[in-house]
Amino acid sequence: MNASLSLAERTRQALVDGKEILRGDPISGDRYYSKEFMQQEWDHMWTRTWQVGAVEAQFPDAGCVVTHEIGRESILMVRDDEGRIRAFYNVCQHRGNRMVECEETKVRRLVCGYHSWCYGLNGDLLIAKDSEDFPQGNPVGKLNLKELCCETFGGLVWFNMDREAKPLRESLGIVADQLEAYEMDKMVRVMHLTCEVNCNWKVIQDNFNEAYHVKALHKELATHIDDDYQNTTFQIFNNGHSRMLMKGSLPSGGGKSKKVQAPLDDIMRGWGLDPQEFEGRVHEVRPALQKQKRALGEERGYAQYANLTDDQLSDYYHYTLFPNMSFTMAAESYQILRPQPHPTDPEKCLFDHWYFVRPAKGEKEAVTPLGMWPMEAAAHEVFMHGEKSMGFVADQDLSVAIAQQQGLHSRGYEDAYLAGQESRVRRYHEVINDYIAGRV
Ligand SMILES: [Fe+2]
Repeated sequence: MNASLSLAERTRQALVDGKEILRGDPISGDRYYSKEFMQQEWDHMWTRTWQVGAVEAQFPDAGCVVTHEIGRESILMVRDDEGRIRAFYNVCQHRGNRMVECEETKVRRLVCGYHSWCYGLNGDLLIAKDSEDFPQGNPVGKLNLKELCCETFGGLVWFNMDREAKPLRESLGIVADQLEAYEMDKMVRVMHLTCEVNCNWKVIQDNFNEAYHVKALHKELATHIDDDYQNTTFQIFNNGHSRMLMKGSLPSGGGKSKKVQAPLDDIMRGWGLDPQEFEGRVHEVRPALQKQKRALGEERGYAQYANLTDDQLSDYYHYTLFPNMSFTMAAESYQILRPQPHPTDPEKCLFDHWYFVRPAKGEKEAVTPLGMWPMEAAAHEVFMHGEKSMGFVADQDLSVAIAQQQGLHSRGYEDAYLAGQESRVRRYHEVINDYIAGRV
């Protein structure tokens, strides 16, 4: 890609026409419950794609360790003595014991709990008890923890099990250039939730690849998000990623309602605008808020506004990054919604909801999908679906997930019958097929 072109020109080059590129591969039910298909996804896709394992802020010092589970694997990330964050399979080379059993810790060396084999932060084996007693040779200086590709971007730590993988920036392509403007590395993960759900990971991912369900499932959003598909931009990129641009601070249908409704009224007051003054001209709220944010943003500490367009100050840029990440970008916050494969059961998944906020000057609390939370790095909460809320919009999405998982087993279901605005759903399944068939 030619770096001298503008971002808009490069974006245009990276787009594919969804209608032209769709082959029409059927989205059959077995993709959601077959163990064979689950294994194919693991062999050809999960082990070959970039995944987010942690947040960079979890590694302030050398020796800070975070583990992340995906499928049956546990990945160990650590900041080494040179300051680099590295990723290893979390397994001792002696007898296969898992090295670190907690999610977060700080160590001087990585020591296996079974026979005390001791590794440096760069993965090299430093000490093995009775090292002279190995007929095949002293393991010290010979063995090291098995390393994965590891890179940072957007304040996140990414890993890839494929040592031949394209570098992360190349794999993200134009998406990385677009996301850069938000300065994600300056945002704090104030919410960190995971719940186990009784559906295949793709049931949830499909949901995030379309907004056709928004009017049916998320009626509350209509007061401040324009959910009409005619007013929404859908873009599919040629590397498997895609995005959907939805207008915010504008009610459904372009703002034909007479009065400004919640929560838009509060948002306006927060920016020094009077909702009553906009009665009968609600469609003017969006540009007015954009203008106000532009005028006051910098003094409130939102330096990233300088990189964002007026549209980005009010709208939701919703990215789906292949294979399983949804980033919903707003000017002051973003969220990651991510269904992960279950270790053994194709009919279950682990659903993450991470919420990041850019701290404004003096703010001690953050507005999150679960109300006001402290403006600080959140502890990880893990629970079963239904035990606690994942945020009301995510709860609404999950409310149909289990019934859909059941329905996909039916002899009466053969393929999805998709609207044009759901093209990203079929495209996604076709990219999965491309991985499985070795076409990527
Ligand atoms: Fe939804």
